[in-house]
Amino acid sequence: MSIDREICPGVFWTGVKNPGLKIFDELFLTRKGTTYNAYLVRGTEKVALIDTVKEAFSDEYFQTIDQLGPLDKIDLVVVNHTEPDHSGALEELIQRNPNIQIYCTRAAENFLKQLIDTPLNTHVVSEGDEIDLGGKTLRFILAPNLHWPDTMFTYLPEDEILFSCDAFGAHYCGEGLFDDEMEDFSGEYRFYFDTIMRPFKEKIREAVAKVASLPVKVVCPSHGPVLRRDPKKAILGYGEMAAAPPLSDHPRALILTLSPHGNTRTMAGAVRKGLEEYGIDVVDMALVDMDEAGIRDELERCDALLVGTPTINRDAPPPVWKALALLSTVTPKGRVGGVFGSYGWSGEAVKLAEERLAGLKYTLPVPGIHFRFKPTDDDVQACLEFGQKVGRFLAGEQES
Ligand code: FEO
Repeated sequence: MSIDREICPGVFWTGVKNPGLKIFDELFLTRKGTTYNAYLVRGTEKVALIDTVKEAFSDEYFQTIDQLGPLDKIDLVVVNHTEPDHSGALEELIQRNPNIQIYCTRAAENFLKQLIDTPLNTHVVSEGDEIDLGGKTLRFILAPNLHWPDTMFTYLPEDEILFSCDAFGAHYCGEGLFDDEMEDFSGEYRFYFDTIMRPFKEKIREAVAKVASLPVKVVCPSHGPVLRRDPKKAILGYGEMAAAPPLSDHPRALILTLSPHGNTRTMAGAVRKGLEEYGIDVVDMALVDMDEAGIRDELERCDALLVGTPTINRDAPPPVWKALALLSTVTPKGRVGGVFGSYGWSGEAVKLAEERLAGLKYTLPVPGIHFRFKPTDDDVQACLEFGQKVGRFLAGEQES
């Protein structure tokens, strides 16, 4: 695939394309593959690389660099982020050019020592540090936890280019290089945000605040199209996607319920009533037709999560585990939990779901409850009291 690699005079895309990739990182489905973006910036005095590529694509990466000039004339490489899809060719780069200097954050330096078994010429950078390449300046903007602790952006003020690492990226491999050359990839852009960036909304807001007032003509992310159509909109749009959820006047609880025979749902109704007696706003969601986006939104708004699960084959059923897996895709507002459910003859699900919540550092103020088959009036009363106790805990938490 032949493309024009020049972003502007002296700035080149040295990335690689992987249009056939079906699942990124063995985790995320891709409709049209991905790209591993890397860049070369040539000043009058020095030449810099920004990131490398996944190791499997090293040959193509070095061929590209060779076309742009001798490798031993490259002075430095900026490592915006050490995840192997961007640092995979770094060890070979050091072997080919042992004099190359590495600029990165302290966290990145520590990670590189774990990733690469080679002496490293590292220089740890701080917020606002600059390197003068001769007519082109690289300025570092720390952006920790977008999405690793090591992350930073690099800004090139003369050309108003922001090398943004994973932020503003997409797993999408189009024919050209720039967003204005491609079909609509907004679905991939949003999916990437939701799956990779979303757990770090607060950090995104901090990073966007740092760059929102910078003049930016081009955003050069580490995956997907280079953004030049409306880079400001991309930056501000990230801020909007990462906006804090609306504030609630009252504590808020999410109840997720799976109930094949209606018994766990009966329990959920009583739990809800108990919560509401303590002024808790309750959102009920059924897991039978799971609204994943809605659950994520509510996890970010709610102070507590209550899970109603039946036991099937000595386990919580797959939809319950799928919902519990969503907990690591967001930063929940509150980590107060509780579990209840109906069962037939063993009833392991409540305990297993409690262990999942506890493993994610949830506080479980009330031990889980489970009842056989159809809950009796006494069982329903116990569910009401379960909800009351959680509600009292939440109300007390808000007061304290
Ligand atoms: Fe694309 Fe976090 O690596």
